Amino acid sequence: MPRVSVTRRVHFSAAHRLYRPGWSEEKNREVFGECANPNWHGHNYELDVTVEGELDGETGYVLDLKRLRDVVHASVVRDVDHRNLNLDVDWMSENPTTENLVVAIWERIRPRLPEGVELKRLVLRETPRNYVEYEGG
Ligand code: NI
Repeated sequence: MPRVSVTRRVHFSAAHRLYRPGWSEEKNREVFGECANPNWHGHNYELDVTVEGELDGETGYVLDLKRLRDVVHASVVRDVDHRNLNLDVDWMSENPTTENLVVAIWERIRPRLPEGVELKRLVLRETPRNYVEYEGG
């Protein structure tokens, strides 16, 4: 059967602050700019989750996109939406850059996919102009 990629887009809003606790305020300000503001700021994130698998001859699906949505919601969106990424999310590292966040999201989703369905690519948009991509590894 042909292998096909399918993508589900989800949204979440979250607050964060970029900083390293071991650095001085000056050093954090120098490296992270306004993103180091002590009193947090927020983003409306968009996440594209692309999986690949064999087309099922009976259903014509790779997987039911509702199932993919449920996996992403239960393992990621429920934990981060309207939360503070620095304080509220126990699977996030201390410095929630978009890069760190996309890697953490990958580790959340990958083991929870149905058998035979492979996580191919994540695209995480922090703003309409800034986004990161991750394909594992
Ligand atoms: Ni930010």
